Amino acid sequence: MGELKTSSKKEIFVGNEKFVQFISEEKIQRRIAELGKKLTKDYKGKFPIFIGVLNGSFIFMSDLIRNVELSCEIDFFKLSSYGDEKISSGNVKLLKELNADINDRNVVIVEDIVDSGLSIQYILNIMKNYNPASVKIVSLLFKEEAVKYDVKIDYIGFKIPNKFVIGYGLDYAQKYRNLKSIFVLEE
Ligand code: IMP
Ligand code: MG
Repeated sequence: MGELKTSSKKEIFVGNEKFVQFISEEKIQRRIAELGKKLTKDYKGKFPIFIGVLNGSFIFMSDLIRNVELSCEIDFFKLSSYGDEKISSGNVKLLKELNADINDRNVVIVEDIVDSGLSIQYILNIMKNYNPASVKIVSLLFKEEAVKYDVKIDYIGFKIPNKFVIGYGLDYAQKYRNLKSIFVLEE
């Protein structure tokens, strides 16, 4: 296992695939501060529960809620991943259910990235079994051109092209989540 510097690097090689820096740490943090402000305003007087979708969302979620100046709670869903591939298998499995009771609660689903929209659609379907007061979705990244399902993302960090990205929670075969900025596969 080689050494991986999680900051300062501008390019990363995974075998002979080259990833280049795409969204810097500073840019990510600036955008999250804006999203946090907006959520603080929109949920004023409420007590939202942020529900992250594991694994990818854990870093974004931890930065996001620290930019929300409201009393809030958190919980997580865990969905099956891509495996070691760069494209979705098209199947989603629920690996961890919620623990919180979200009946009558204002729910904010937190995703790292919306690609085809399958995962979000799956989660919105599960939400119908509970009885939340409201459900909104925040995603750090949104691959607008890749969306195949009819899902509305309420808060978007960055719209990005339909390319494979890693870092800041996003993995390639479970690695590279600990990069501080986001890198894109150079094609
Ligand atoms: P969707 O169900 O097709 O919308 O895909 C959503 C999930 O796939 C995300 O939560 C990520 O875990 C993963 N994913 C989608 N695109 C990428 C990517 O470019 N890099 C790493 N993971 C991705
Ligand atoms: Mg994910």
